[in-house]
Order: sequence, then structure tokens, then C-alpha cells
Amino acid sequence: MRVKILQYLRETDGFVSGEDLSRTLGVSRAAVWKCMEDLRLEGYKVEAVSHHGYKLVAVPDKLIATEVQHGLGTRKFGCHVHFFDEIPSTMDEAFRLGMNGAPEGIIVTAESQTKGRGRLGRSWVSPKSKGLYFSMLLRPALSSSEAARLTLLSAVALSEAVESFSGLRPLIKWPNDLLLNGRKLAGILTDLRAEVDRVDFAVVGVGLNVNTLSKELPPEGVSLKEVLGQACDRVGLLREFLRAFEKRYLNLKKQGFAPSLEEWRRRSATIGRRVQFEERGCKREGVAMGLADDGGLLVQLDSGETVKRMAGDILLEMKGKNA
Ligand code: BTN
Repeated sequence: MRVKILQYLRETDGFVSGEDLSRTLGVSRAAVWKCMEDLRLEGYKVEAVSHHGYKLVAVPDKLIATEVQHGLGTRKFGCHVHFFDEIPSTMDEAFRLGMNGAPEGIIVTAESQTKGRGRLGRSWVSPKSKGLYFSMLLRPALSSSEAARLTLLSAVALSEAVESFSGLRPLIKWPNDLLLNGRKLAGILTDLRAEVDRVDFAVVGVGLNVNTLSKELPPEGVSLKEVLGQACDRVGLLREFLRAFEKRYLNLKKQGFAPSLEEWRRRSATIGRRVQFEERGCKREGVAMGLADDGGLLVQLDSGETVKRMAGDILLEMKGKNA
């Protein structure tokens, strides 16, 4: 009923009378009143004027289901939203849901994380209500090695979403960091639960610095607010991402990963750049030549040998293309 009342309030310009609401929805005036109280507790600003009724004045800047789903238009992703004001990590909660048989497309969102996780054992700073912190549950019909490419697909969708939302075009540092002006805007983490030859489920987690202040970010980090000079609508950006992601993900059945890998190459901050990485304790340097079809990064070492890097991290040397 709360969702119906909210929809009614959103669609009405002026005031809606309590009587109209109770008649249309077939509930008591007291139930309508209680619903308004619940909406207020969630952060909705509902004005009440006697003899006029109720009017929606402001919606909360929160990653709650009613906001994320408003005008979303996806078939799967975001159709169930598990929201937390604070949680250790959205990854663990989405993984738990996956283990319990939850359907594909569920997302777990949080206003803050106390143990936000990054790749390679790093942490992800998650100050309250400043960034986007969420994880999605996927049940792809893929092998584990194929599923590694989901992270690349997600990075492409995230870059596209930021671009259509803000006009800024973040570039992708292999495998899946989003960079603006060479600094890290967003990161993606994928956890898999797999059997021998197929993935049971995957959890893709996204952390994006939206309105985060520079003093809250690690030295290499950047936020959209810092670059744009104004705060952004986190929920709107999340919706944009869910649409972009779903489009690419549902297209996997028809066209596989090829279109997403092609777009990754176009948005790359890595190809053509000098890179460094460590392999079994040895420092190696060379030029990133391209992205292989299995998602590996092809690097021509200074010795002339070409190697394919499948996991781990790389450092971009500072000269060259400016991300
Ligand atoms: C990285 O760049 O190393 C990946 C960062 C991923 C961070 C996100 S925030 C939401 C989700 N929950 C986590 O604990 N991590 C991911």
C-alpha cells in the first residue's frame, strides 16, 4: 500500500485528500495516516494540510527500493532491492542471498559500509551517503573462466552510465577501475560461487565515489562532485547503471562478450600505455598492446616477449594518454 500511496502522491501535482486515498485504495483513513508516517520515517517529506490533504514535497536521497525502482524500467536488475543504512559489506549480504537461492537481479545497497572490500585484499572507503555502494546477484550460464569477463562488462556499463548521466567519460584501467583525469572514480569486485564446470552464482559489487569529499578519499581517488563542482543524484546514477548493465548482460545470450569487449577497448585507459606489474616477485615493464578475447591484457615486455596477464593489478606509467 505504501508503494501505491507514494505513486499516487508522485502523480498528483497538488494535494491528495485522505478521503480520496482511502476510497481509491479501499483502506481506512487511519491506515492512510499511518502510511504517511512510515513514508516520513523513510525520509519522504509529506506535507499535510487540513481540508486539503497530503502533498509530496521532497524525496530522500537514499538507495531504498522505492527510489531505485521509480522509473527504472528494467526487467530484472533492481526489481528487488535489499537496503541497509549500514552494513559490513554488501558483497557478503548478496553472497548470503545467493546461497539461499535468491533470484538473479537482486541488488543489495548500503548508505555506508564498515568493512567495504576492494580487489586484492584492499579496503573500500564507504563514507555515509556519499558514494554508491551496491552488489548485484547474477546467475549466468557460464564457466568460471568466462565469468571473469563479467567484471569487464560491468566496467563498460558503469563507464557508459556515468557518461550518459554526467557527460564525463571515465576511462577503464585494466581490468575494471574507472578513472577520471587519471584518478580512481570507481572499482568493481566480483565474487564467484562455482562448481567444476559452471558458475552457481556471481556477485558483482560496485563502489563509486559520487559526492565524496577529497579529504574522505584515498590519495589516488576522485569523486564526480570534485570534477563537476556540484553534487549528483546517486539514485539516478544507480538507475542509469542498472539499465546499461542489464542491456549488456541480457545481450550475452545473443552476442556473447564480443560487443562489450570491443567497447572496453574503446574506453580503455590502458591500451597503448607503458605498464608495470609484478610476477612471482619480479618487476616487469612493457607496453599494453591490447585486450585478448578472454579478457587478459596483452603486454609486450621490454625484452620483446609478449605475455598475457589474466589476474592481479598493473601500474600505469605516468607519461602518455591522459585518462
Ligand atoms: C576495487 O576497486 O578494488 C573494487 C572495489 C569494490 C567496492 C564495492 S563497494 C560495494 C561492494 N561492497 C564491497 O565490500 N565492495 C564492493
